[in-house]
Amino acid sequence: MAKEILHFDLNTGAKIPAVGLGTWQSEPGLVGQAVEVAINVRNGYRHIDCARPYNNEEEIGLVLKKLFDDGVVKREDLFITSKLWCADHLPEDVPVALNKTLEELQLNYIDLYLIHFPARMKKGSTGFSQENLVPTDIPATWKAMETLYDSGKARAIGVSNFSTKKLSDLLEIARIPPAVNQVECHPSWQQAKLREFCKSKGVHLSGHSPLGSPGSTWLKGKVLQNPILIATAKKLGKTPAQVALRWGLQMGHSVLPKSTHESRILENFDLFSWSIPDDLFSEFSKIAQASCFIPFTSFT
Ligand code: A2P
Repeated sequence: MAKEILHFDLNTGAKIPAVGLGTWQSEPGLVGQAVEVAINVRNGYRHIDCARPYNNEEEIGLVLKKLFDDGVVKREDLFITSKLWCADHLPEDVPVALNKTLEELQLNYIDLYLIHFPARMKKGSTGFSQENLVPTDIPATWKAMETLYDSGKARAIGVSNFSTKKLSDLLEIARIPPAVNQVECHPSWQQAKLREFCKSKGVHLSGHSPLGSPGSTWLKGKVLQNPILIATAKKLGKTPAQVALRWGLQMGHSVLPKSTHESRILENFDLFSWSIPDDLFSEFSKIAQASCFIPFTSFT
């Protein structure tokens, strides 16, 4: 009988669901339905990973409200993550940004609020552009994040796309240590060094782009085409996507696959009651490593 991996523990004492629905590049008009499908799956998704620059939090909020009003799920049974955008790093902008997210999501608290990138951009800039980058002051931004935690509006705080060095620097000055570092993580970018570091410091690693974002033409990865992944999937009678996600769970990190298609939303949640046996699992350590995201996750 496979070991069920439904949650991981955070250093706040809370539990983060092992699988969350990613919403990056989930288009307005499709994202609401995706969230509804995901939550409605029997014993379904209980974690939705959001961010304001994805431009879809308002639609997600409408669906969440409907699901609460219809008694489908209770607020306390969901785990909602959102992120502080790079143009909102100034301490006085941090609470304003969270308030906007809460307003759009129609929530009065968030389960996890992350600094989206260890990079700051000019106030008001949207999207990610090299010209708009300005020097960061992560200690000042983190202090403002800690105030959100103290207020209860963010029940956990953390970071995203932080390297080992950036995370280590943050841990040196943090009064409240980050609960999570959400980074690109899949069999072709296993984050060995960062994973060990996070583990030693009690920071949960959460994997975004766990399928290597196959729909993004501007990314170079072909994670799902890896021969070891394909061979394992064939042997287990699963899809390469399911094996990539289950690999993540067995490595000890939560996974955040994005899809707006019902069949894939269901497929990506069918990760329980089976596992990758040890002999096949150990093969994954042979996979050549290559990050899909060229600039974003390489801040050192
Ligand atoms: P779609 O939304 O059309 O289903 P990641 O989570 O790594 O960023 O990957 C998201 C991309 O992978 C999206 O383009 C999504 O497309 C696609 N995708 C999601 N689930 C699967 C799956 N089970 N098999 C193949 N592609 C998938």
